[in-house]
Amino acid sequence: MEYIPGSRMEKHIISGGKPSRSVTRVMSVTSGKGGVGKTHTVTNLGISLASLGYSVLVLDADLGLANVDVLLNLKPKGTLHDVLKGSMGLDDILLEGPGGISIIPAASGVEELHELRSAEKLLLLEEIERVAHRYDYLLIDTPAGIGTDVMYFNSAAAEVVCVINGEPTSLTDTYALIKVLSTTYGEKNFSVVVNNVADETEAAAAFKKLTRTVERFLKVNVRYLGWVPADGTVRECVMQQQAISAEFPSSKAALSLAAIARKVADQKPEVTVKGGMQFFFRQLLEMTSYGEEASY
Ligand SMILES: Nc1ncnc2c1ncn2[C@@H]1O[C@H](COP(=O)(O)OP(=O)(O)OP(=O)(O)O)[C@@H](O)[C@H]1O
Ligand SMILES: [Mg+2]
Repeated sequence: MEYIPGSRMEKHIISGGKPSRSVTRVMSVTSGKGGVGKTHTVTNLGISLASLGYSVLVLDADLGLANVDVLLNLKPKGTLHDVLKGSMGLDDILLEGPGGISIIPAASGVEELHELRSAEKLLLLEEIERVAHRYDYLLIDTPAGIGTDVMYFNSAAAEVVCVINGEPTSLTDTYALIKVLSTTYGEKNFSVVVNNVADETEAAAAFKKLTRTVERFLKVNVRYLGWVPADGTVRECVMQQQAISAEFPSSKAALSLAAIARKVADQKPEVTVKGGMQFFFRQLLEMTSYGEEASY
């Protein structure tokens, strides 16, 4: 492993094992096809990062349909509607999840970000920024597909993590997602997690298939973060509304997610390319306001 002076690893050593915070890393976890394991990955990656000593905030960016809180059996105290009305602050609706992660739940029924009025958008993003600033990681669970909000969150995040499985539709849909993000939004760096596959060979084959097409037709970098096996314990946890990394840390899937978390933590973040959290929120606001202004 390469030793980089001034890096998180150096701080890790200086501070005796517990990492210290400098910038908030903003990573979106996304997919072309639905149901491939984004929410499972984002929550358990968050818990694994927390067990390494990092503070983690998960934003459920599916503004229309609640997801993370249901998966973890958490009861939202309020909704983003309350924040938008001004009757509650974001801190009031923040949930404490397993393993010490914090969660901003996505209340069902809030309009998509681009449908909110400018003042509402500003309030919402300012509130998220103020809270996210306190954390080492802001992990964003996006809805699937290539809808407008998905594109905003992905293109504003410094790092885009695509979750794929071995199915051809997952690969073609992810190719479509990367194509739109790179050609329309200028995103050039992607990471991939291969989820729900039988073994490392299947994971490597799926990653190779994707990168072969991507590298042939698009000018982007795709790096491999790791793979998570198909593990019956995942489904059991989903049914019990538990997080596998908190309840069964020695299961196959949890161990793989822990390895992915270590790889993420050891990586040099992409902040030099796309800026930190302030950049993320400024960009998000500019993008979501553009259509509105342009239509006057
Ligand atoms: N590694 C795995 N092993 C076994 N089952 C898995 C694994 N990963 C995900 N699953 C199954 O896939 C289901 C869907 O996962 P998840 O809800 O995380 O997908 P998603 O991509 O967030 O879906 P959506 O696009 O609807 O938001 C889970 O409920 C679980 O049953
Ligand atoms: Mg989901």
